Amino acid sequence: MRTRSAIVRAVPGKWEVVELDLDEPGPGEVLVRLVAAGLCHSDDHIATGDLPVRTLPMAGGHEGAGVVEAVGPEVHDLAVGDHVVFTYLPVCGRCRWCSNGLQGLCDMGAGTLHGSRPGDPTSYRLHLGDVPVGQGSCVGTFSERTTVDRRSVVKIDKDIPLESAALVGCGVLTGWGAAVNSGGTRPGDVVICMGIGGIGINAVQGAAHAGAGHVIAVDPVEFKRAKALELGATAAFADMAQARDHARSLTNGQGADVAVVTVGITTGEHVAEAFASIRKAGTVVVVGLGPRSDRGIPVSIDELVLYQKRIQGSLFGSAAPLADIPRALEFYRTGQLKLDELITTRYTLDEIGQGYDDMHAGRNLRGVIVF
Ligand SMILES: NC(=O)c1ccc[n+]([C@@H]2O[C@H](COP(=O)([O-])OP(=O)(O)OC[C@H]3O[C@@H](n4cnc5c(N)ncnc54)[C@H](O)[C@@H]3O)[C@@H](O)[C@H]2O)c1
Ligand SMILES: [Zn+2]
Ligand SMILES: [Zn+2]
Repeated sequence: MRTRSAIVRAVPGKWEVVELDLDEPGPGEVLVRLVAAGLCHSDDHIATGDLPVRTLPMAGGHEGAGVVEAVGPEVHDLAVGDHVVFTYLPVCGRCRWCSNGLQGLCDMGAGTLHGSRPGDPTSYRLHLGDVPVGQGSCVGTFSERTTVDRRSVVKIDKDIPLESAALVGCGVLTGWGAAVNSGGTRPGDVVICMGIGGIGINAVQGAAHAGAGHVIAVDPVEFKRAKALELGATAAFADMAQARDHARSLTNGQGADVAVVTVGITTGEHVAEAFASIRKAGTVVVVGLGPRSDRGIPVSIDELVLYQKRIQGSLFGSAAPLADIPRALEFYRTGQLKLDELITTRYTLDEIGQGYDDMHAGRNLRGVIVF
């Protein structure tokens, strides 16, 4: 079968839409027709080389939703016509991590930047002539159709619009979970959300949903701050110094309970700014990625130890995708989580370059490719 996909041939590189050969689903696999795919900053990190991948060319995209078009042997719990959201970290349900409620850390995720089948470094489903093409996060949602391991999709109810559901497969769960699960936001907390992109806006929603007394959004872009105020933030500032002062003014000088860092290109300095904004025994949640070669967070060990502060990494919102994707969609149904409002601009697959230009220019909360 043929499909059209956005690939990068070399890094640093640009997304290029090409026609590829797509394999039919083998044992344990499904073929999905994409309806929508979100333009997450992590795919840009792949294109720039900040996030090194093993296979080039690589078909990008890890946030998406679609309809099952074919089901391979040994798949007994999905049928043609089912609606699915991609989970950018596959979930085996059996490893040590899955068994302990840490599905986002499933051992199958180890190969997520390889581009091959999870668990089989020699096996590919996309081909450009004789050349194997990787699939970002084992899925490659910047494709009209893609063949994936069954464990990379989560079945959802058909009444949920797939364009909105797509966002849950990365941005929503990652941001919401960063505030709720990784940060442990509690009723009345003061929470700073640093960076209001597709991830950070959902940290705002998560903190508000968890009952934070104050949700302080920080972004240099005015449009992002306005959106944050619409979706649950109680205050918004252009920089962390103002957010820190505001958090202190609300807490008798102590500082925020939680600061979630979702800056597009996150550096050690950003984490240090968040660290300076939290109270004793407060938590900085680091979600954003930067160049892998970056080392070091310039914080004082004294302040870490004597104030018993915590710096917590967060992958996929420390969530359990099999349980939390349907749960997030239930929150959407009941109006407790906004999804439609997160989509600023819709693009065709061929407009993907424009989509990433708009992301860099701060024009989108989330851009979405609609197929
Ligand atoms: N840990 C995970 O599981 C996970 C999952 C998905 C994405 N990510 C990462 O999260 C980050 C955010 O992704 P996104 O898709 O929301 O990106 P985005 O580009 O949509 O949003 C980033 C935001 O950061 C803002 N920003 C830039 N400098 C800032 C500063 N100094 N202070 C405050 N805000 C600042 C930008 O204006 C922008 O609004 C990326 O690094 C991405 O790779 C991590
Ligand atoms: Zn993502
Ligand atoms: Zn597992």
